[in-house]
Formats: sequence, structure tokens, C-alpha cells
Amino acid sequence: MIYLTRRERFNAAHKLWNLDWSDEENKAVFGKCANENWHGHNYQLFVTVKGEIKPETGYIVDLKELSVVINEEVVEKLDHKNINLDVPFMKGKLASTENLAVAIWNQIENRVADLGCQLHCVKLTETENNYVEFYG
Ligand code: NI
Repeated sequence: MIYLTRRERFNAAHKLWNLDWSDEENKAVFGKCANENWHGHNYQLFVTVKGEIKPETGYIVDLKELSVVINEEVVEKLDHKNINLDVPFMKGKLASTENLAVAIWNQIENRVADLGCQLHCVKLTETENNYVEFYG
């Protein structure tokens, strides 16, 4: 078993806001992240797949094909969007890095399998200092 990681990037806006809470509760819990008029991040997404090396190519998977899947299912749906308002697969979910990483996993898991390898990890960095890893 060998592991391979592809990085993609997108920029998106969001705010952390629980619709079941009052304005005061949201501001107390989420602070600046609850800014009413949104704020943005330059996200980096690292998708790690695992599998066996195919003798005819020396690859686990063709990175161009993996990149197409990530772009179609994730980047085109998030880049320059408002995560709270514009992204169908985040509808009804709090726009945290954790929830976003899980949603990205669900977006790509089956299509990665169709490429002949297995999704291992979705790592999503929100800032230089903060990132989430989800292993399914
Ligand atoms: Ni934020």
C-alpha cells in the first residue's frame, strides 16, 4: 500500500453561526468568526489516496484524473463562493473547517474509488496555523 497526495486551493467566505442561537450567543462563542458580513480564507485542500502501484504506469492513480475529480466535485463548487449561502453540499451545516472536511470527503469518496484507488485522508487548512484531517 502506498499513499499519494494532491493539493488544490480555493478561496471562500463564511461565518460561523448557529441559527438556533441568539446573536449574543453566536458572538460569544464564535467571536470574530461570527462577523455578520462574512470573512474569507485561502483554503488549501490535501487529498491523500492509497492503493497499489499499477505496473503499467508506475502510478497509484493518474494525478490529472484525480485533480479533475477534486475540481469538479469540490473546487468549482467552493471557489469564490460563500460557504453558508452558495454551496449545496454545505446547506444546513455550520461552516466550520471540520464540517467542510467531512463534506468534501463525501463529495469525492465514490469518484476516487472509480479511479481504482481508495480515499485515505482529506486535510483542509483554513489558515497557516489551523487545519483539520478526516480519515472517513
Ligand atoms: Ni473563518
